[in-house]
Amino acid sequence: MVAPTPTPADRFTFGLWTVGWRASDPFGDPTRPALDAVEAVERLAELGAAGLTFHDDDLIPFGSTEADRDKRISRLKDALSATGMTVPMVTTNLFSHPVFKDGGFTSNHRDVRRFALRKVLRQIELAAELGAKTFVLWGGREGSEYDSAKDVQAALERYREAMNLLTGYVLERGYDLRFAIEPKPNEPRGDILLPTVGSALAFIGSLEHSELVGVNPEVGHEQMAGLNFVHSIAQALWHGKLFHIDLNAQRGIKFDQDLVFGHGDLMNAFGLVDLLEHGGPGGGPAYTGPRHFDYKPSRTEDIDGVWTSAAANMRMYLLLKERAEAFRADPRVQQALAAARVAELATPTLSPGESVTELLTDRSAFEDFDADAAGQPGYGFVNLNQLAIDHLLRA
Ligand code: GCO
Ligand code: MN
Ligand code: MN
Repeated sequence: MVAPTPTPADRFTFGLWTVGWRASDPFGDPTRPALDAVEAVERLAELGAAGLTFHDDDLIPFGSTEADRDKRISRLKDALSATGMTVPMVTTNLFSHPVFKDGGFTSNHRDVRRFALRKVLRQIELAAELGAKTFVLWGGREGSEYDSAKDVQAALERYREAMNLLTGYVLERGYDLRFAIEPKPNEPRGDILLPTVGSALAFIGSLEHSELVGVNPEVGHEQMAGLNFVHSIAQALWHGKLFHIDLNAQRGIKFDQDLVFGHGDLMNAFGLVDLLEHGGPGGGPAYTGPRHFDYKPSRTEDIDGVWTSAAANMRMYLLLKERAEAFRADPRVQQALAAARVAELATPTLSPGESVTELLTDRSAFEDFDADAAGQPGYGFVNLNQLAIDHLLRA
């Protein structure tokens, strides 16, 4: 089989902190040398990626001088123009420095919250300068270990205060930038605020400029909470809130593994790519933003393994895309979908203009409805799922 080759048209992007991860963990030292941002841009461009994303501190170490900052930014800009790579998203690190040990926007310490806002405002300027369209906020330290230590309602109020300030600032400056909140249930905090896509969506609905705020769901984060990532993404799309996505893989409810995309729950990854590419079978929206990988090259890999694993993410996506296309085009699948009444769910339950009184007087809906007969036939969902697996395995 001819391996699909990634091109910038596929819009694959990588975090600088992913390929640049030196593989230190709570039990062990780094196993790889530091990676220069320029080398990351060049190598990713060679592999067919479209862009790079980064936290402020990935590019400019915390505490750098203004001169050093300027130098690093201009080196990045040169590498971008030499390769044609872009920076469609940036983000801020409000979790590494000890000052953020109790969070950024929701730290109990007010001065820390003010510092966090200033750090984000500074990175917004760089986002605008580089033409980024999305600003991701992952609040890994916004949370607690002990219920008595955090007033969660006050924390949500401060989170909202921060979001209202940031969106107001972007509007005032006229930047073409939207925010995407990235949920995660835990790690590094025992419990993180806005733990799932659903909780983030509810929070976003309460914001002053909610139109500027969406979500950046990550495969492994929803799966760490035991949730079905495809369902979470479908709901985010349905709300018009899938502003960005972090693709990777996870094997079960445990620490955040950040494996190569598709290297965990492969069936769920197949369903995900099908949804992102084609939208819902009933005409629900597809995803049009960058396909962003937030994975960690395993600690066992050397620098060659880093690039092999980066390529593997894109290959997995393209293979699944190809398989999803074949699945949708197969007449046996069409038949199984019809038998399973999948398309029928897109038909409104009431007739056009039908009132509740009309429903109440429709004897066929209740008095004459043969529930026993309607409860008899199966839906054939297992057959449909086996067809999906057959396509996945090219059976
Ligand atoms: C994690 C998160 C981060 C964020 C990143 C972008 O679990 O560590 O996924 O990698 O995506 O901080 O804001
Ligand atoms: Mn993660
Ligand atoms: Mn992430």
